[in-house]
Amino acid sequence: MKIDYDKIYISASQARENAYAPYSRFSVGAAVLLRDGRIVAGANVENASYPLAICAERAALTAAYGAGARKEDIAAIGVVGATDLPISPCGACRQVIAELMDADAEVILYNLKKEKKIFRVKDLLPYPFEAGVLSDER
Ligand code: THU
Repeated sequence: MKIDYDKIYISASQARENAYAPYSRFSVGAAVLLRDGRIVAGANVENASYPLAICAERAALTAAYGAGARKEDIAAIGVVGATDLPISPCGACRQVIAELMDADAEVILYNLKKEKKIFRVKDLLPYPFEAGVLSDER
């Protein structure tokens, strides 16, 4: 499908406004583009117990799955943060992205200057830990 990078940026930026980040004061927004054109967005949601923070990427992807989408339905995810270079997703989110999105789906990283870097899922997390190995242990 033809990906509208401006539309994803706008959705992710709007979601970013909903971030609950009183501890880090670092707001992030993410927008999952479904192949039928719908967008499911999310933002980071923090907690006084700091490690319980949910990143924007996982908020958006779990919302998309909770609404019934599966990896074959997802074309791309866009992420935006107030970074100098386009934002870089954390390792935990890369692992979740690798499981919940197709290896060839796009991950579009933005900053507020609307600069972007575009990756395929498989390039953002090479050699991922995957479900297929779970039966290997003897
Ligand atoms: N964060 C995200 O939501 N996505 C990223 O790609 C990087 C970091 C959040 C987690 C935490 O709430 C805040 O940004 C600071 O780490």
